[in-house]
Amino acid sequence: MATFNIFVLPGDGVGPEVTGASQRVLDTVASRWEHDIVYSSDLVGGSAIDEYGEPLRAETLEKAKTSDAVLFGSVGGPKWDNAPVRPEAAILGLRKGMGLFGNIRPVKVFPGMESSSPVKDERVRGTDMIILRELTGGLYFSKPKRRWTTSRGRRGVDTLLYTEQEIARIVRMGFELARGRRKKLTSVDKANVMETGRLWHAIADEISKEYPDVELSHALADSCAMQIITNPRQFDVLVMENMFGDILSDEAAVLTASLGMLPSASLAALPQTGGGRRRKVRGLYEPIHGTAPDIAGQGKANPIGSILSMSFMLRYSLGLAKEADAVDAAVEGVLADGLRTADIAAAGQKVASTDEMTDAVIERVSKG
Ligand code: IPM
Ligand code: MG
Repeated sequence: MATFNIFVLPGDGVGPEVTGASQRVLDTVASRWEHDIVYSSDLVGGSAIDEYGEPLRAETLEKAKTSDAVLFGSVGGPKWDNAPVRPEAAILGLRKGMGLFGNIRPVKVFPGMESSSPVKDERVRGTDMIILRELTGGLYFSKPKRRWTTSRGRRGVDTLLYTEQEIARIVRMGFELARGRRKKLTSVDKANVMETGRLWHAIADEISKEYPDVELSHALADSCAMQIITNPRQFDVLVMENMFGDILSDEAAVLTASLGMLPSASLAALPQTGGGRRRKVRGLYEPIHGTAPDIAGQGKANPIGSILSMSFMLRYSLGLAKEADAVDAAVEGVLADGLRTADIAAAGQKVASTDEMTDAVIERVSKG
């Protein structure tokens, strides 16, 4: 029996509800396939500020680094908007501290869900893309980054800096992902304006020589934002700078009906899939949605983003591909059955609670 150490960081708002749902599904996976899951958990974000006076304690980061995987909920909320250190520092600190430079955000429109999207059915039908977001550099982390006061008023600066190595490793991850899919990679930048964009563009071209089987195209970030809504089916894998990835992934999520549907995997390397052996990689798994304080604690949150993130964890960090396939199939199955949480229900449609949705997934995983 394999034993896995999972570190659960539920965070704030709906975080605890959705990670709780994922743990219930994971327990079902563990009993069906006889794996031993050992959980530990800790406070992060606003709840850690309240309890410990800081959003991410050093010992929490240390524990995250030594666990097999981290299952993360969400952090933030109006209560801490004026805190000296914001709750969001917890997730940023984990990403940077664990070296998780690649953030995989799949945007898939499940069959039968087309009409739940605010974008027209015929546009969103069949959408299946991955936004690969660089996660430990760029505008989020480069220095200088500060606010100060001068005699002529206040100033603020954020910096967009990338090294060749940082760009090369994320672009390579993009090529590897595309190679396992429809073999199309779109590299997104602002090469018409920014030096980092020109560097990004050139390095993508250079690395494409290592991947002659993958078709590389380039898109400017603004035009790409438009193409994501007008013609999403054209995209397979898109790779981009941290901030572009933050913005474009929220935009793309609209295609799937709700932010609540989208999972993500943050990885320190792409697992090698060659030779039938899967090297396991360190990872943190979180839905892309936020804390949704308006519905927190009411059992209304959509658990699918977290459950699919947990499935990524099975696949990438635990090396359990067939178990991950079973979870993905269960989610697809309950959606095909017409189950809808509030965020994805059409007007007049019956609304399932977080628990009802989770129970339906569990039912399928245990029997499927
Ligand atoms: C995301 C979130 C985070 C980000 C916040 C919570 C810091 O929006 O994961 O997309 O900006 O990266
Ligand atoms: Mg975001």
